Amino acid sequence: MASSIPLILPQDVEPLVSQVAGHAKDKDKRSPGMLKHKDGYVLKPMLKPVQAKTEIQFYEGLAGAPHAALQPFIPKYYGISHVKIESYDGKVIILEDVTGTFCKPCVMDIKIGKQTWDPFATASKRESEERKYVECKKQLGFSIPGFQVYDSISNHLKKFDKNYGKSLNGDTVKNAFSIFLNLHKPKCALMAVDVYIAEIQKIFDIMSQQNNVHLYSSSVLLSYDCEQLGKNIDPSLWSRVHMIDFAHAYTGETHEQGPDNNYLEGLKSLLQLLKSFKE
Ligand SMILES: Nc1ncnc2c1ncn2[C@@H]1O[C@H](COP(=O)(O)OP(=O)(O)O)[C@@H](O)[C@H]1O
Ligand SMILES: [Mg+2]
Repeated sequence: MASSIPLILPQDVEPLVSQVAGHAKDKDKRSPGMLKHKDGYVLKPMLKPVQAKTEIQFYEGLAGAPHAALQPFIPKYYGISHVKIESYDGKVIILEDVTGTFCKPCVMDIKIGKQTWDPFATASKRESEERKYVECKKQLGFSIPGFQVYDSISNHLKKFDKNYGKSLNGDTVKNAFSIFLNLHKPKCALMAVDVYIAEIQKIFDIMSQQNNVHLYSSSVLLSYDCEQLGKNIDPSLWSRVHMIDFAHAYTGETHEQGPDNNYLEGLKSLLQLLKSFKE
């Protein structure tokens, strides 16, 4: 728990090697990237005060919130700590590593929503967001800022970054999922798609029954363990769906009430795409 690690020592952390998107390690911008604690936690650096406040409030208010039913899909939150590592000297939030038990984690970050800027964004932030992932967002209501996959035959790890994601459109996005799922390989992860569809449907149902939280620039993290492919094991044991990144999550207290149609439309379109792999 958070209270057991009030100050995190630099020798106890390393980069989170399974990080596929988000703020990367960048000394000039004083970002250490996502970190992994020796006790298994993921540490997310709180780089900007406003986003830090928003994300911490989201996690700390979750249990009592109208959208508390989302909890099974959200990484467990263990509180706040402080890390001093290279050019970073600041707050981190302590989270469960949702792919930490996988031997060969395949992970895809899917940013949900046509609108990725929040209602308090400056005009320049809004413009820069609107220039990113234009085709995918317009045609599908989501984008893919990154993923990693182990080739199920060679076992080589391949990483696809935001530049690959930005090159995708409504048609080519299927290729990204084919690569991610090791489709067209003797050992593929098509069975994970059943789990993804069922879990995303549950998230959709909860989100459509609540009028409180609005998620901007938040992601669905799809994952599976490549190590388990071809073994005839129940896919719910080796594939998972999580919701991550609440740096722009607004609730009824600070933002208008009503359904989060931007998020719901993105999820609906993602469900449709996943279902097309089962036809
Ligand atoms: N709880 C977690 N467990 C495992 N990996 C995570 C977790 N949270 C984030 N990640 C990894 O870190 C990346 C960036 O996280 P995110 O919260 O989206 O940061 P940012 O605000 O910089 O976009 C994700 O794409 C994923 O690869
Ligand atoms: Mg993110």
